[in-house]
Amino acid sequence: MTTDPAQRVEELRAKIAYHNQLYHQQDLPEISDAEYDELVRELKRLELDHPDLVTPDSPSQQVGFTPSDLFTPVEHLTPMMSLDNATSFEELAAWGKRMERYIDSNVEYACELKMDGLALSLVYENGHLARAATRGDGRVGEDITLNVMQIQAVPHQLKTQEKLVEARGEIYMPVSSFKALNDEQLKQGERIFANPRNAAAGSLRQKDPQITASRNLSFFCYQLAAGPSDFTRHEQTLEYLREQGLPVNPTSKVLKSLEEVYEFCQFWQTNRHSNDYEIDGVVVKVNDLAQRMELGFTSKAPRWAVAFKFPPEERNTLLKDIMVSIGRSGKATPFAVLEPVFVGGSTVKLATLHNQDQVALKDVRPGDTVIVRKAGDVIPEVVGPVLSRRPEGLPAWEFPKVCPECGADLARSEGESDTYCTSAECPKQLEQRIVHFASRGCMDIENLGERTVQLFLQLELLRDIGGIYTLDYDKVRAIEGFGEISVTNLKTGIEASKQRPLSNLLSGLGIRHLGATGARVLAKGMNHLDNILKASADEIAAVEGIGTVIAHSVHEFFQQEDNRELIERLRQAGVNFEGPKASTLPQNLAGMSIVVTGSLENFSREGAEEAIKERGGKSPGSVSKKTNAVVLGDGPGAAKITKARELKIPILNEAQFQQLLETGQLPGDGESAVVG
Ligand code: IVH
Repeated sequence: MTTDPAQRVEELRAKIAYHNQLYHQQDLPEISDAEYDELVRELKRLELDHPDLVTPDSPSQQVGFTPSDLFTPVEHLTPMMSLDNATSFEELAAWGKRMERYIDSNVEYACELKMDGLALSLVYENGHLARAATRGDGRVGEDITLNVMQIQAVPHQLKTQEKLVEARGEIYMPVSSFKALNDEQLKQGERIFANPRNAAAGSLRQKDPQITASRNLSFFCYQLAAGPSDFTRHEQTLEYLREQGLPVNPTSKVLKSLEEVYEFCQFWQTNRHSNDYEIDGVVVKVNDLAQRMELGFTSKAPRWAVAFKFPPEERNTLLKDIMVSIGRSGKATPFAVLEPVFVGGSTVKLATLHNQDQVALKDVRPGDTVIVRKAGDVIPEVVGPVLSRRPEGLPAWEFPKVCPECGADLARSEGESDTYCTSAECPKQLEQRIVHFASRGCMDIENLGERTVQLFLQLELLRDIGGIYTLDYDKVRAIEGFGEISVTNLKTGIEASKQRPLSNLLSGLGIRHLGATGARVLAKGMNHLDNILKASADEIAAVEGIGTVIAHSVHEFFQQEDNRELIERLRQAGVNFEGPKASTLPQNLAGMSIVVTGSLENFSREGAEEAIKERGGKSPGSVSKKTNAVVLGDGPGAAKITKARELKIPILNEAQFQQLLETGQLPGDGESAVVG
């Protein structure tokens, strides 16, 4: 990279122009928004330090892009400007300070979600939708009226007959529609979209309006750009737009200090995935329209607004390698080895690529620059390659033919998407089966994690699952790093595991198709492991809630000689085989659905859910209209609380939960349950 500012400025301008073209005209960006913003920031910094280098055609002086020739150009009634950004409280405060140069009275801030979509201008003449246009270069946009008319959220007719109304807002694709669209594209073998924003752009900028019609696009309005002028505050203009039948986002708030504004930004940063649309920040606007007039504009953006941008959830990084991991069933899962990258709040080094077809569809190759996405608590994902950065002649990745752990053949059955190691003796499968048996939700053996299992296998202290209960503690004691305390802890953990519920044991055995819920149903329905051992597949299928696929799989598992042997060894060791006793507790939560989020003082999450179920209630993992209450512990899931508030579902603390368990009654009106 050059150190000559003039040369660097030129370089940056060329790069920005190139990426502008890809982003806006081809809807095929090669770099993440964060990287693009960084290029613009660097250019602005240089231009600030070297004002002589500023030219009128610099991208720093322009908004957006030049319209493509796919649609007719239209000149906007007033320019569609962009916004300055802030990414911290300091930058927000600096914006506030700059405003003080122009106004000295108190400011109210109208805060709105920054929709991650495409800016749209809607012009209504005498109440009729006359024209819809993209932002374009801010002065001239593209006429996409016919396409926009296909979007249900955009009214063709307003309530008013007003001569001219211009509403501006954002077109977006709901996240659920984006996922469904990509699933469909995958099925059809068509290109998949990197994110909802690109999908929205790709769906809108179509010559054939029927394609737009077939994609579920939506719209939120955020600005009255022309129309009646008898309003004094921004919030009134939004209310007017709403009254006219235009959709306005309901989360907007007017706040009186930048501290409160920052809190609002932080709240939405934490809860950014709690809505069915993507947001990439908060737009903060001066509420008072007269104050806005005083503040005016710079050449590019209004002084009366700023975009508080959230940290990026997508980043580019190098795909160093694609490797394959072997699971307890022998499943061979390809995963990406990445140059570590900080994205979505954590450093990502590895990401699953799921299966052979996914790698082929995404066409990611070791040596590619790839887009990595980590959104909220969702697992990190490789979105796709940046094709323009692919080194010439980079070979496609091929799925290995043999197991990287044991050298046996890997095989994929006709019609299946997964590939399996064919060896029954594969050491990795054995290791993973033991790790799974000891894991949380199964026998939950503290101090017997993956590392320890690997070590014990290596030292031949452990040969199979049954060996856990005949471990030679003298030999463990002799291992370097295993003090008396760790040996005692391990022993205590193993002893305690003998008392786990039958359902945990069933889960731990790793029977194909039998998940945690199925295991619970089976344990309750059959009452004792010996009953399951004796049962035919049909008898197992007779248990309510157990389907034939699970029943056959369970039956087959217990028919196998080595599995029967394992069960006998577990019996010898004194592992609990008994199912849950019929509950003697009053069924006072029958018909109720109670969601638990976060950890409580006197219950583990599972314990709390169990307590609900023992009293006849249900405890699903997510909040819906059917939820009667949400129990709130420490470190709760943000999405659950937001949803509960939205649906006005009572939120209970631990004491109120205890009371509910005892009485079956929710705290009534006037008591301290937090609602909405
Ligand atoms: S106000 C003159 N409000 O963010 C300023 N913009 O860089 C008009 N955006 O492309 C913009 N949500 O399309 C405003 N609630 C909101 C917004 C919003 C998303 C987009 C807008 C523009 C970009 C600003």
